[in-house]
Amino acid sequence: MCEFSTPFNGNKCDRTLSHQELVRAIRFSIASEFEAIQFYEQLLDSIEDKNAKKLLAEIAGDEKEHVGNFLTLLKLLSPEEEKFYKEGIEEAREIMELE
Ligand SMILES: [Fe+2]
Repeated sequence: MCEFSTPFNGNKCDRTLSHQELVRAIRFSIASEFEAIQFYEQLLDSIEDKNAKKLLAEIAGDEKEHVGNFLTLLKLLSPEEEKFYKEGIEEAREIMELE
């Protein structure tokens, strides 16, 4: 499994974060959600217990919703960042010749 650094190693930060630090923490949160999705889907593809598979699929779906939650917050906190995402989307669509 891929690993990400931890911003506070489980401890509360001893000061209030700056705006930029909050933006970075939200990016980190999004990455953590993707890591969780990967883990739950990998686990459910590797087991046969139907109840566990059902629950893991539900939890993986919840994590995908959390990605949407954090992306919404990131766009609110850092609206200029959305410009880069849009450029990437347009570039990819152009390369794949999508309408
Ligand atoms: Fe989550």
